[in-house]
Amino acid sequence: PTLHIITPTYSRPVQKAELTRLSNTFLHVPNLHWLVVEDSAQKTALVSRLLENTGLNFTHLNVETPENLRTQKKLKNIRTPRGTMQRNLALSWLRENINPNSSHKGVVYFADDDNTYSLELFEEMRWTRKAAVWPVAFVGGLRYESPKINSQGKVFGWRTVFDPRRPFAIDMAGFALNLHLILSKPQAYFKLKGVKGGYQESSLLQDLVTLSDLEPKAANCTKILVWHTRTESPLLVNEGRKGFKSGNAEV
Ligand code: UGA
Ligand code: MN
Repeated sequence: PTLHIITPTYSRPVQKAELTRLSNTFLHVPNLHWLVVEDSAQKTALVSRLLENTGLNFTHLNVETPENLRTQKKLKNIRTPRGTMQRNLALSWLRENINPNSSHKGVVYFADDDNTYSLELFEEMRWTRKAAVWPVAFVGGLRYESPKINSQGKVFGWRTVFDPRRPFAIDMAGFALNLHLILSKPQAYFKLKGVKGGYQESSLLQDLVTLSDLEPKAANCTKILVWHTRTESPLLVNEGRKGFKSGNAEV
């Protein structure tokens, strides 16, 4: 099976560093198709060049998150979507470009540009029948969050502190889906509006699977294969100070 890896990304000082690190990981993974979706009105030269230079099998898309969604009234705990429209565009691309009746086998995974992925993770997800799940480190204020697995090896709940009653209390990095499941339910998308913090993942998964469909991976969810790392923004306070000006190298 081909791994279709969906990555939303947006312009900022560390973008090229993040995408470089990610592509270095993906270069070690066989049979991978990288769908990179820029949060921008136009595809940028920086990302276009980077993708060409990796030699990876990629699809480059873009859609800009409109201003009114970026700045959603910071109502209660309603979160402004980060990467949501971009992931949805990639889901549409798969539905438009892969014939559901073809023998093509695939798995879909949402890989944010700043996380850290072990190579083992990709082999764990490769044989996903419907939805594979595993723990994710550094989310929800914990060393890691994890699905709860019973003695029959089935998921029966969520080892989280933050709202364990969510239908799927799992971070974006904690699951992969069979491509045919996505193609067979063409109305399933991430909800864009009115999604409470932590409910984005549930908004898609609810349309596709139930708890009993989930396949625990990573040694019955006892191993950490992905880390929800976040990159510190560099302080560029000396740019322009005392008449200093950096060269025009692409960073
Ligand atoms: C957490 C989850 O791990 C994300 O999967 C989820 O999208 C996000 O919360 C959310 O709030 O919805 P977090 O580390 O806070 O992640 O989010 P980021 O890593 O900043 O953004 C997630 C992805 O969206 C990244 O790949 C990022 O490059 C992209 N993004 C972010 C955009 O495309 N546009 C933006 O304006 C911001
Ligand atoms: Mn992140």
